[in-house]
Amino acid sequence: MHTPNLVEARKRTNNKVLIKTDDYKLNDNQKKLGKNKKYFIKTYGCQMNEHDSENISAILSDMGYAKTDILEEADLIILNTCAIRENAHNKVFGLLGRIKHLSYTKNIMVGFGGCMAQEEVIVDEIMKKYKWIDFVFGTHNIVNLPNIIEKAYTNKKQEIEVFSCEGDVIENIPVKRDSKYKAWVNIMYGCDKFCTYCIVPYTRGKQRSRLPKYIIKEVEDLIKNGYQEVTLLGQNVNAYGKDLDIDYNMANLLEDVAKTKINRVRFVTSHPWDFDDNMIDIISKYDNIMPYIHLPLQSGSNKILKLMGRRYTKEKYLNLFDKLKEKIPNVSITTDIIVGFPNETEEDFKDTLDVVDKCKYDGAFTFIFSPRIGTPASKMQDDVSLDIKENRLQKLNELVNKYSKENNDKYLNKIVPVLLEDYSSKKKDYLKGYTDTMKLVNVKADSKYLGKIVNVKITSVKTWSMDGEIVN
Ligand code: SAH
Ligand code: SF4
Ligand code: F3S
Repeated sequence: MHTPNLVEARKRTNNKVLIKTDDYKLNDNQKKLGKNKKYFIKTYGCQMNEHDSENISAILSDMGYAKTDILEEADLIILNTCAIRENAHNKVFGLLGRIKHLSYTKNIMVGFGGCMAQEEVIVDEIMKKYKWIDFVFGTHNIVNLPNIIEKAYTNKKQEIEVFSCEGDVIENIPVKRDSKYKAWVNIMYGCDKFCTYCIVPYTRGKQRSRLPKYIIKEVEDLIKNGYQEVTLLGQNVNAYGKDLDIDYNMANLLEDVAKTKINRVRFVTSHPWDFDDNMIDIISKYDNIMPYIHLPLQSGSNKILKLMGRRYTKEKYLNLFDKLKEKIPNVSITTDIIVGFPNETEEDFKDTLDVVDKCKYDGAFTFIFSPRIGTPASKMQDDVSLDIKENRLQKLNELVNKYSKENNDKYLNKIVPVLLEDYSSKKKDYLKGYTDTMKLVNVKADSKYLGKIVNVKITSVKTWSMDGEIVN
């Protein structure tokens, strides 16, 4: 049994990161454990988790399990959880209630993984109050799932395997991708920024970049398999390579990925701190690097930014923002903003609104600060009432939505490229996809256009999406 420990997780050892290419192995018993059985997986949180679930799915499929989207049909239920805010926790515990109910009527195995599994308080609670959960696995333990599941079947007691400290980069984990046209490609794991409010550096461990050759090989294989788009993934992609022994950074990687000639290259998330001019030049130089950047602001107040440990000022952020707008034609920029951080005054909040007024973002994810146990911000005295926080969030959302709609309005009657990736969930006879600038468009189109990048004329515009039709 390995249980998580946040103090351990905070440590950044100097141990050299090993690149492992033969860690994933199945024995004969594990290859048939899932025979005639179905698995259901529920994923919470960010793209990192979405992609981890694609790895988990592939491992389960190697073990003989078939996938189901219906909870009640499953023999094995996996929760891939997120710890970023309290409401993420609540959703998970809600689903656990449903699953417990189901377990009265049916023999099921339940596995609990993801970022919540890296939190001591949560695993303690699972050990005390959720004894019926069969196994718990951390974000560094996915490759070992076949062993964990095998043990859970044979030992009949709760299996817990959560390493507090990460170590290595595992290169041979299989993947079963959700889309046939666009793919997540991890370029790095973990985060060393330690923003004072954030749990990610604890749940995902230290920054470990993948070697460029493995990333390029993955992209080349995707092209061979007909993929149109890759999104390079990391908590902090601009810091890519800083932990490698070679002289190679995010600008180099972006250029090499662009040179594979894949139709679309995207990347998330960009921390303003490491965004250098080389990167901007590369983005504007290559047509297949999409003109879309997610550039989290978090707050517009220098006092709050400092308390958050973000290491940039409002002025530096605006400077970078203007440079991006100037050098990358047609770029669209979205952001993340937290309101109600401890000690945020009305003045501080106005500074945030001021930045939003200046940047007129294409979109923004907005959050009320949620204290995470073990992080420095959770120990800061918080004198802002929930009422005020909710009020600020509402004001901020109104402003954000206004600019989002204004930006979208500019697309009316324009012709834009859209990668049609799926059937529209809202409209019959429509497909959906994203523009180069990451706008969601519902397009009246035959299913033969699935997986194609087409020119679309925008016929109507809303705050969150647009409608359009194909033009030649
Ligand atoms: N690596 C990315 C962010 C990942 S988390 C970056 O540095 O920008 C996604 C977003 O969740 C963050 O940008 C932040 O706005 C929000 N967030 C993170 N921790 C939070 C907390 N404790 N309370 C509220 N929002 C939080
Ligand atoms: Fe969290 Fe900051 Fe790292 Fe983003 S950069 S994951 S907000 S610690
Ligand atoms: Fe959540 Fe973990 Fe991602 S905390 S946002 S799933 S890295």
